[in-house]
Amino acid sequence: MEQSLNAVAAVQNFIHQPHHHYIQGQWVPSQSGLAMEDIDPSTRTVLTHVARGNGDDINRAVEAARQAFREKSWRQMTPQARGVLMWKLADLMAEHLEELAQIDSLDMGMPLRQAQYGTVPMAIDHMRYMAGWATKIEGETIPVSAGPFFNYTVRQPVGVVGAIIPWNFPLLMAVWKLGAALAAGCTVVLKPAEQSPLSVLRLASLVTEAGFPPGVINIVTGYGPEAGAALVAHPDVNKIAFTGSTEVGKSIMRTAADRMARVSLELGGKSPNIICADANLKRAISGSMLGIFMNQGEVCSAGSRIYVAREIYDEALEQMAAYAQNMRVGMALDPKTQMGPVVSAEQYERVLGYIAKGRQEGAKVVAGGGEMSRAGAGFFIEPTVFAQVTDSMTIAREEIFGPVAAVMPFDSIDEVIERANVSAYGLAAGVWTENVRTAHYLAHSLEAGTVWVNAYHVYDAAAPWGGFKQSGFGREMGHHALELYTETKDVWISLQ
Ligand code: NAI
Ligand code: MG
Repeated sequence: MEQSLNAVAAVQNFIHQPHHHYIQGQWVPSQSGLAMEDIDPSTRTVLTHVARGNGDDINRAVEAARQAFREKSWRQMTPQARGVLMWKLADLMAEHLEELAQIDSLDMGMPLRQAQYGTVPMAIDHMRYMAGWATKIEGETIPVSAGPFFNYTVRQPVGVVGAIIPWNFPLLMAVWKLGAALAAGCTVVLKPAEQSPLSVLRLASLVTEAGFPPGVINIVTGYGPEAGAALVAHPDVNKIAFTGSTEVGKSIMRTAADRMARVSLELGGKSPNIICADANLKRAISGSMLGIFMNQGEVCSAGSRIYVAREIYDEALEQMAAYAQNMRVGMALDPKTQMGPVVSAEQYERVLGYIAKGRQEGAKVVAGGGEMSRAGAGFFIEPTVFAQVTDSMTIAREEIFGPVAAVMPFDSIDEVIERANVSAYGLAAGVWTENVRTAHYLAHSLEAGTVWVNAYHVYDAAAPWGGFKQSGFGREMGHHALELYTETKDVWISLQ
């Protein structure tokens, strides 16, 4: 395990301990006794083994969550006390920030600096932001005309939440779901991705330490079609919160329809990033390269379709190629690394397959274009920039979820709006211009849940996040997230 030697001792100890499910505040082995391998993508070696849960483990966890939802210790806990508990958990996460960052970095290949300064701090901020909401989930009084009535609404927790998260931002995705669910007073069964379950298991110990009543937060590790599918199908789960592929999202929606379970879906994207002729080119290039290469391009909102005004296209392309060639690709735990390995053998093959397809269909590689064995034994792929891409090519349509940019020229703003909006997805979009009218016109016209102007990949716990079209529905973050975890009840009191 060449790489994990660099990790702090606490991480070493944690990684090598047995990893069971976290149910009812206890560590519980899989009922089947089976485990699954967890890989370090920087070295392609087995990092550790983790319990392989199935329907039996899910049943236990959902039962624990249901019981906790009924218990007075949670149900009647004051909103303020709930907020204090959440804040305590955030403090513990901050205390263990370095450990959590190293764990995610080892487990899925995120560059350590990004974890330390980006995603783990964001997860902590998110928990604190949502802790504040616990005391602010208010109803309304309604001036009804139906007669002499006092009419008011209350927002009640939706019940037991089944949360299923992907591997690209393990801790952050967990906290996006836990934060709003806990603020609303729900209980949760969380299934992390099989590629990267470790930071969530580390978080579980902090949940105990913070003093949450047993059963409020449960974690079952395992594969999607086993543990994940059992959680989605469980009759006692009131709501499914899912982030992952559009394909699995659709199947979840179908299963949930039978019992009308609530569903929120954060799915894929093929986000357009538009560089206008009047853009500050230096900022636009570095922002757009961050837009596609951050986290190895394994981001649902990656700016993977880069549209550049024709008059600056050649110059922009040259600068993008230079930027990509100069990126430091290496072991995730190396503090100098700007781009780590992709998460798994499967993802590695998949991304290389898309690069081959791009070439076959006639696009031209201007930077990268292949695997990168000189970075190490892991799943390293070169930051890749394609030119001569047309809208109909596979690399311009499908989500690659890897470090591959498709760069295309455009001639007018209305033309680029139409081309940007052709996608079945609608998660995010970027715009680079110094003209305020163009900025507003594009922000207004693009079919996307988030539009960044002269920026890319900025996120905040207070700003709503989610997709248009096949990128899903529901908004995580901001007060909007609370709507996903509450039911509105309307009460009529006769005044006569
Ligand atoms: P996935 O959608 O299969 O996995 C995401 C989560 O869903 C994991 O926890 C997985 O165990 C679970 N899952 C899988 N099948 C399930 C099922 N039948 N029922 C319930 N849960 C299930 O995504 P995967 O295979 O890891 O990645 C494939 C592609 O999906 C990527 O290349 C990318 O294009 C896209 N993706 C998008 C993400 C996003 O943030 N929007 C995140 C991860 C993947
Ligand atoms: Mg792993």
